[in-house]
Amino acid sequence: METEKNMEDILRLKNYADQSSVPIMMDEGMDFILDYIKSKDVKFILEIGTAIGYSSIRFAQIDPNIRVYTIEYDIIRYHEAVKNISRFNLGEQITVFLGDALKFNFTEKFDLIFIDGAKSQYINFFEKYKENLAPDGVFISDNLSFHGMVEDINITKNYSTIKLIRKIRRYIDFLKANKEFDTTFYSIGDGVAISKRAEIK
Ligand SMILES: C[S@@+](CC[C@H](N)C(=O)[O-])C[C@H]1O[C@@H](n2cnc3c(N)ncnc32)[C@H](O)[C@@H]1O
Repeated sequence: METEKNMEDILRLKNYADQSSVPIMMDEGMDFILDYIKSKDVKFILEIGTAIGYSSIRFAQIDPNIRVYTIEYDIIRYHEAVKNISRFNLGEQITVFLGDALKFNFTEKFDLIFIDGAKSQYINFFEKYKENLAPDGVFISDNLSFHGMVEDINITKNYSTIKLIRKIRRYIDFLKANKEFDTTFYSIGDGVAISKRAEIK
């Protein structure tokens, strides 16, 4: 979908997110996930944290056979996402669910579960959705660097940001200690991790 018109529409969506202070994936992290989806032939994706639909649109545009379920609890963003997805004619491929991701119960198995919701809930998202991973499925988690603050907490003096960074650090420790999953950390974009089921030795 590399047409000039599509690239313009994507750019417009990114600019809108920027001007409206809606956090969306950084380009480097996005390219990394798009490459992963292509190289592993990912077909069914669950995304926690839709925002205005930018990442789900990028995922779905890779291949018309890709299906995306995406969850958003902010009603304004939910409606914006639904509108944007329909503008890109991707309503058949992307389903947006309104509500708290911790309250849904899906029976489907996903090739990829993308965790991009509230940072304070990452461990809960992981624990809740691990049974929804297909046998070769992976979790991809974003924002594990949080603008470099996870590595250097002194960058901020803001108390709520410090609390958030501590939670991200706890999630990183949780992933490192997790015996069920092997996680690889990548310092690209805002810090991305891929977690896959550990092989039984
Ligand atoms: C970083 S943004 C998502 C960006 C989007 N994935 C993209 O790159 O275009 C995180 C979004 O997750 C939503 N969110 C946070 N916690 C959530 C939860 N428990 N359930 C549903 N949505 C959640 C927030 O309202 C916010 O819009």
